Amino acid sequence: MLGTFTFHNPTKLYFGENALEGLFKELPKYGKTVQLIYGGGSLKKNGVYDAVTEILRKCGKTVVEDGGVMPNPTVEKLKEGVRIARENRVDLLLAVGGGSCCDYAKAVAVSVHCDEDPWEKYFVRYENPSCEIVPVGCVLTMAGTGSEMNNCAVITNDAQKLKIGKVFDERVNPKFSILNPIFTYTLPMRQTVSGVYDIFSHICEQYFSGTDNNVSDALSEALMRSVVDASLTVIHNPENYEARSNIMWAATWALNNLIGCGKTQDWTVHALGQALGAYTDATHGLTLAAVSLPYYRLVLPYGLSKFVRFAREVWRIDPTGKTDSEIAEAGLCAMQDWMKEIGVAVSMRDLGATENMIEGIADATLLSEGAGYHTLTRDEVIEILKESF
Ligand code: NZQ
Ligand code: ZN
Repeated sequence: MLGTFTFHNPTKLYFGENALEGLFKELPKYGKTVQLIYGGGSLKKNGVYDAVTEILRKCGKTVVEDGGVMPNPTVEKLKEGVRIARENRVDLLLAVGGGSCCDYAKAVAVSVHCDEDPWEKYFVRYENPSCEIVPVGCVLTMAGTGSEMNNCAVITNDAQKLKIGKVFDERVNPKFSILNPIFTYTLPMRQTVSGVYDIFSHICEQYFSGTDNNVSDALSEALMRSVVDASLTVIHNPENYEARSNIMWAATWALNNLIGCGKTQDWTVHALGQALGAYTDATHGLTLAAVSLPYYRLVLPYGLSKFVRFAREVWRIDPTGKTDSEIAEAGLCAMQDWMKEIGVAVSMRDLGATENMIEGIADATLLSEGAGYHTLTRDEVIEILKESF
């Protein structure tokens, strides 16, 4: 049975090879000054920067540059973005990049007119904005986070060794997002598969909670199968449009609030992964990959029937002659084989963690009680982290 819910996602999407043309429709809706947000320069090599700035020019916009957004954007960078936006009184924040640029744009959006410390207000006290919010648009170049169609922003505080995702309300969703799968062709394969695993994990976080038979879980299974299929194509053929487009579209639907409708959700893997990320600055999807299997093996007995369903519906495990526990374990083994095949079977050590970080990572793991099948004790968190080495 589905619980009661309200679903409203206000982000307009333009998808496909000519999606960038959508900027001609969207840009005239906003004032003259656009803060152009991008990362470390990949878009200057692959032509996306030139294509976007050409359209901005044709639309008569004044462009204020805000490059150098790092993967896992920091509070320090956020301050810089807010300063740029205030000094130039910008009318639109246009993020061109992956989840980091898009999250950063949202965090700037809620901070420009905020007279408090945004880190404290939004990410520590978890309050909602009470000020004007600058509109955000997004041109996506990396598929994974779903930030292009959601209301979440993740910011890292290096000094405090904390990485926190704040879920805002729908006013913070991008007003529009441009999704051209071809823009993802130039991603290094490590980034591609990290994004793939992030998508898969977003679905798992919403799927592995509750035991009901409902349409949200059925949608999740279809998305998981699509992501697995497309990933196995893209690792051999990075310019396969069909696979790239399926990955991009699945990423958006994996975390735009749809598949979580009417369900409880877990998010423990993300809590562990983000703590690991705060200590290592490792690529987000890989931090999730490092901790996932030890976590799922630990909680499997608490949610056995769902793990059986996962094995049968996602991994097509033949149940003949097997106990439920054996079916469930066979499902996790199939998932592990897939992770090895696409190259995300990594350990915490591979990501730069050292054993003396374990206590700190456990402290930085922000668990929410009663979300999944089992709320971890601190000893269990430590056990999972040790297992993930
Ligand atoms: O900085 P540049 O030079 O552009 O290079 C980027 C970056 O190094 C590169 N890249 C992006 N598009 C490219 C490309 N390289 C070549 N060709 C392209 N087309 O990829 C690298 C990673 O980019 P990033 O934006 O950091 O990756 P991702 O999209 O995975 O975003 C990760 C951030 O999003 C947060 C993560 O925690 C992390 O901070 N998340 C946001 C969520 C949300 N808003 O809902 C949920 C997620 O669970 C996640 O936590
Ligand atoms: Zn994620």
